[in-house]
Amino acid sequence: MSQVILVEENGNLRDLLSINLKTYVGSEVIPRNNASEVIDLLNILPNVDLIITHAFTKEEQTAKIIFDFIVENNLEVALIVNGEFSQTHDHLVVIDNDKNWEEVISTSATILGVTPEILEKKVLPEYIPIEPHYFLPLDTSCCDVFIRIKKSATEHQYIKRIHAGDVYSNALILKYIEQGLKFFYIPKEYQQNFTNYISDHLCQKLDDEAYETLDEQIELISQSYDIALKEIKKLGFNSATIQLTDSIVNSMISATKKTPEVNNVLHKIINSKSGYLYQHGHMCSVVACEIAKNLGIVKESTFQQIAYASFFKDISFLENEDLAKITTFEELELAGLSDEDWDLVFNHPLDAALLIRKHPECPLDVDTLIKYHHGSQNGKGFSTLNVSKIPEIAKVFVIAAEFVKELMSFKERGGKPAPIVEELYKKYSTPDMLLIIKALEKTLRKKAPKK
Ligand SMILES: [Fe+2]
Repeated sequence: MSQVILVEENGNLRDLLSINLKTYVGSEVIPRNNASEVIDLLNILPNVDLIITHAFTKEEQTAKIIFDFIVENNLEVALIVNGEFSQTHDHLVVIDNDKNWEEVISTSATILGVTPEILEKKVLPEYIPIEPHYFLPLDTSCCDVFIRIKKSATEHQYIKRIHAGDVYSNALILKYIEQGLKFFYIPKEYQQNFTNYISDHLCQKLDDEAYETLDEQIELISQSYDIALKEIKKLGFNSATIQLTDSIVNSMISATKKTPEVNNVLHKIINSKSGYLYQHGHMCSVVACEIAKNLGIVKESTFQQIAYASFFKDISFLENEDLAKITTFEELELAGLSDEDWDLVFNHPLDAALLIRKHPECPLDVDTLIKYHHGSQNGKGFSTLNVSKIPEIAKVFVIAAEFVKELMSFKERGGKPAPIVEELYKKYSTPDMLLIIKALEKTLRKKAPKK
């Protein structure tokens, strides 16, 4: 292990350099406060590989003093100076911008003979973190599964918890989740394999309809939905994620077919233990398909389109589901978001439409439904004024998405039942939209659960 002496007054910068030198250059870092402390150390350790120092420390010309000492004593040690320094020497590198810590790290790597290839190998962790809920729908794993335990400030130990091929219980995973475990770990060479394994497993379960009740089916769809969206964001569309998306979409459609009482399906979804995106997506699909049927649109291809669009419309909010609750410009302005989140919300219909175009087997026009799902024609922001100009099925989708959003916010708020449909009539008052809202009303009335 190489040894590096570091003179850096700024505590944050010192920590940043130390941890990066240790991790990416594999060096032992010895911090010192000024030139005399460095020289004292050099007298004991003349074979130190590298000294990194600021040009000045307080009033002291630190770099100049250390440099003169190295030259006078003919030492082999390399020197990196941060800040203005006018000397030149074979062993000297000056980095003018004293805040450019990344250049300090890359220069150190070059001086110490750590190549980009070696660096890359060091950067890639040996184990890949996998969120525990990935293991819930499985009962066995294709590879060994570990938990990580801290050994010291910078070192970890991986302990095997599930052996490849062994059957484990759901209760084991739930116990870890309850205890606050954030990640299991798998060896890095199994990452791709694991994704394929879990996708195959879920597809098989979804396609076999290996569930007895609608509740079980909803639980499986929601688990699969979560995993599929995360995998698509991470790896894009590959054969595993395409197949999984397909199985989920078909399962979403079949869940409605098997249970004709729409209110019953909505009730089960909204009360299931699952996330906002899944609940909104699935209910939006159910409601939009029912409105379409009431308007006389009974094409299987339309139901597929709607289910796909419901699946992907809010994929931008995977990391922060609460952002999906914003559906008007006023709500967006009042939400107090960072510029980055504001842009994410504003552009999410267009972003999701562009993403779905990369899906090679996606039904036609799903991107159009997604782009228009908040009424805006260019897929940016929200609009109630121009909704009349978009295609009929896209209007149905807008109303379904809006209705479900209000239904979910009522569920969250509690209290008196909200007149959701009346509000929709006020918000969308053109004749074409009134027809669609009427079709929604018919759906809700006709399919009320029998007591
Ligand atoms: Fe949205």
